[in-house]
Amino acid sequence: MNELSVNHLLGIKYLNQADIDLIFKTADHFKEVINRPIKKVPSLRDITIANLFFENSTRTRLSFELAEKRLSADIINFSSSSSSVSKGETLIDTVNNILSMKVDMVVMRHPNPGAGIFLSKHIEASIINAGDGTHEHPTQALLDSYSIREKLGEVKGKKVVIVGDILHSRVALSNIFALKLQGAEVKVCGPKTLIPKHIESLGVTVEFNLRKALDWCDVANMLRVQNERMEISYFPSTREYTQQFGLNKAILDSLNKEIIIMHPGPINRGVEITSDVADSSQAIILDQVQNGVAIRMAVIYLLASKIKP
Ligand code: CP
Repeated sequence: MNELSVNHLLGIKYLNQADIDLIFKTADHFKEVINRPIKKVPSLRDITIANLFFENSTRTRLSFELAEKRLSADIINFSSSSSSVSKGETLIDTVNNILSMKVDMVVMRHPNPGAGIFLSKHIEASIINAGDGTHEHPTQALLDSYSIREKLGEVKGKKVVIVGDILHSRVALSNIFALKLQGAEVKVCGPKTLIPKHIESLGVTVEFNLRKALDWCDVANMLRVQNERMEISYFPSTREYTQQFGLNKAILDSLNKEIIIMHPGPINRGVEITSDVADSSQAIILDQVQNGVAIRMAVIYLLASKIKP
């Protein structure tokens, strides 16, 4: 197969194994390109992409922008805080105004789950979901799996534990879909209040004891507690959360094996992970960021190749 089964990247749940294989194969090529002295290819000189960020971002926004520039696309950047959204303009009106400037593709981060799906029903352009509320963050999950594959050879059969605020995490949901699709075993670990009910229906197991989860896994993906999405307290105190679910060097060194440590960022150092773990040789956090550019180049390139002239 040399084209994706989808015209938008709205979530991992809409992809199949062949789509992921194709994205990874294409990312392998672009990873080689971005390590050349001239890091740019002319592939998308005829494509214009709008990056619409209705929610804060560092990694995803910069990574998409760099991926688009490496592919020679024309880009426009929109941030809701400095836009007419603050004057009451709707999502559809905002996007239609941008599309009337002949934009082919939209990369959108939005606080509302399903915002990209909603938009895809109302506009012609190809849409990439750069994170929609607590729903999905598909390119993050793709770069996470790609980084596991790079480090361990393959994803199939690997044991991955996702630790922390599973309830509010789009990274967790997209990772579960991506990892299960590729044949990994997935466990989630965190306070009972931050584990969604019935999560086992997604084919994962639940462990409330961090030590047991770490003894089991090959890879631990440590998530940030998303205080900004919480209207109530889900655990007594940050200190207590860290005592039970924070990863520190003493725990890591006491395991009788080397596991891989991942984190999607931004990191709360000293809460879900200590600095000496985040900066250790077992952490691949900056590899994840680096791989994000190649993955996003691959996704943009493959979706752009489906746009009718
Ligand atoms: N991983 C991630 O989505 O980070 P940002 O919120 O900085 O984009």
